[in-house]
Amino acid sequence: MIDASAGTDASAGRRGRFITFEGPDGSGKSTQLRLLAERLRQEGVDVLETAEPGGTAVGQQIRRVLLDGKNQEISPVTELLLMFAARAQNTDQWIVPALRKGAVVLSDRWTDSTLAYQGAGRGLGSEVVLEVDRIACRGLVPDMTIYVDIDVDAGLARAKARAAYLKIVADEPERVKCVDGNRMPELVAADVYAAVRPLLSL
Ligand code: TMP
Repeated sequence: MIDASAGTDASAGRRGRFITFEGPDGSGKSTQLRLLAERLRQEGVDVLETAEPGGTAVGQQIRRVLLDGKNQEISPVTELLLMFAARAQNTDQWIVPALRKGAVVLSDRWTDSTLAYQGAGRGLGSEVVLEVDRIACRGLVPDMTIYVDIDVDAGLARAKARAAYLKIVADEPERVKCVDGNRMPELVAADVYAAVRPLLSL
C-alpha cells in the first residue's frame, strides 16, 4: 500500500537517515553498500537496502527498458524521465515510509548518478535534472552520499561521469564524502564506516 501522503513533501516526518552510494561503473560501490548494511545490522540498526534504477517491482520493469540493448534509439530526455519514474516509485513505495519509521536507507545510486550520466554524459545539464528531481523526489535529498572514486581511462563515458562526480564532491563537501576505491574492499569499507559513524551517532 502506498503512503497516502505521496505527492507532498517527502522529507516531512523523516526520522531515519538516507545515505546514497555513487561512483563510476566498476567502482565497487555496490559491494561497499552491502558491507555497510551488514555492519550496521550487526550493530542493531534497522537498514533498508535499495537501488536505482530498479528498487521496486515497477522500477525493475523500467530498468529493463533502460538497459535493453535493443533500445539504442532512446533519447536523452526519455532516459532522464524513466530514471526519475523509477525513483519516484521508490521514494513513495519504500524510502519515505522507511525513513518515517526511523530506518537507515542505503541506496545504490540516486540523483547524483543522473547529474553525472544524463546531465553531463548526455548533455542535458544539471538544471533540467534538478527540475525533474523536484517533481519526482519532492525534497528527498540524501543526508550523506558516499562517492567511491576509481581511476578510469580518459575518453570513456565513465571518465565524463567521473569528472561530473568530482565536481559534485567539490561543490558539496558536507553531504558528499569521497573514498578511494582503488584499494582492497575491506580498506574502502573502513573509510565508509568512518564517514557514516557521526551521522548515525555510532
Ligand atoms: P548500476 O550498474 O549501478 O545498477 O547502474 C546501471 C546503469 O545505469 C549505470 O551505467 C549507470 C546508469 N544510470 C544512469 O545513467 N542514470 C541514473 O540516474 C542511474 C541511477 C543510473
